[in-house]
Order: sequence, then C-alpha cells, then structure tokens
Amino acid sequence: MYVPSQSAQKARDIILIGMMGCGKTTIGRALGVELHRPLLDMDAVIEEQLGKSISDIFKEEGEAHFRSLETTFLRYLCDERPCSAERCILSTGGGVAMRQENRELLRRLGFVVWLRVDIPILIQRTARCTHRPLLMGGIPLKDRIRELCLQRYPVYAKTAHYTLDTSHMSVHQALDHIKEAASLYFR
Ligand code: S3P
Repeated sequence: MYVPSQSAQKARDIILIGMMGCGKTTIGRALGVELHRPLLDMDAVIEEQLGKSISDIFKEEGEAHFRSLETTFLRYLCDERPCSAERCILSTGGGVAMRQENRELLRRLGFVVWLRVDIPILIQRTARCTHRPLLMGGIPLKDRIRELCLQRYPVYAKTAHYTLDTSHMSVHQALDHIKEAASLYFR
C-alpha cells in the first residue's frame, strides 16, 4: 500500500528553536498538552536511539557526529515519517539551526518559532547547568553564552516564521502567543 510521506502533505508541526535555556522543552511540553499533540524532543530522541547522553556523544563521537545525527533525524521527519503520524511539537537542540540544510528541513516541517530570551537571563538560567557540553569548555559561562548568541541570534531570526521574546513572560503567556500565531499561520 502506498503511504504518502510527510513531504507529500502540508507541513503542520510546530517547531521551537532557540538557545540552551530558552525554555523549548518546558514550553514545548505545555504546548503539547494544550494542543493535544505529542512532544518530540530531539535531544531526548537522539539519546534514546544511541543509548547514551548528549555529553557522552560529544565526548566519544565528537560534535560533528552529533550534528549529523540531528540532520538525519530531521530528514526522517520530513521525508520518511508516515502521513498518518500525528503532527507534533518539535523541541530542537540549540545548535540545530546553524546548518543550512537543517534550516530548510525545519521550515519544511511546519511553523518555526524562535523563543528569544535576553542574554543576561540565559546566563542566569544556565549557570548551574552540568549536562551541556558546549558550556563546559572552561570559558567563563557569560562569555560563552554571549559568543553563541552573537553567532546564533541572526540565524534564528532568519529561520523562524515567528519570533517571541519570552524574557519576561510566563509559560502561560508564551503559550497564548504561540497558539494565536500558529492558528494564523495554519489558517
Ligand atoms: C546544544 C544544545 C543542547 C544540545 C547540545 C548542543 C547547542 O540542547 O542539543 O548540547 O548547540 O546549543 P538544548 O538547547 O535543549 O539545551
């Protein structure tokens, strides 16, 4: 039986992008509950498939390999996921938009939302983080976050269909904005 792939139908996922600590997983989970959609957390899927943590993948296989896993997963979602699969909320890893191919895949999947957060708030939120290899390199956290934001914010901006500054928003407020913007996008 012919099963049309995701690319053969209108892309309808909601994809959350943004820096580490911007709230993709928290907001994604709440959005999934409100919209009755499953949450796909890319990092969690990759960890489960490989049976090891992101830190161990970085340590043992290197960042380039992790980046390839991200692209493979997005290609699968775009081209091989059965049409019957539920539309989902996709929470991405903070670096995913930095590859041109990934940006194209993300936009093919559906409505891309950048959860923007002011840099000082990101620094506070990630201060006690021990599981993110890119923040563990010995460079002072605030310099590392600033450096990454400088590279990434313009890229997030051009990747997203919609930018939401959640710096001073509750999860509930963020949900209201995203739901409204998504309903206009999917109309
Ligand atoms: C990364 C962010 C992490 C994870 C990996 C690399 C990044 O995900 O994918 O450690 O490059 O910003 P979160 O954004 O969910 O922390």
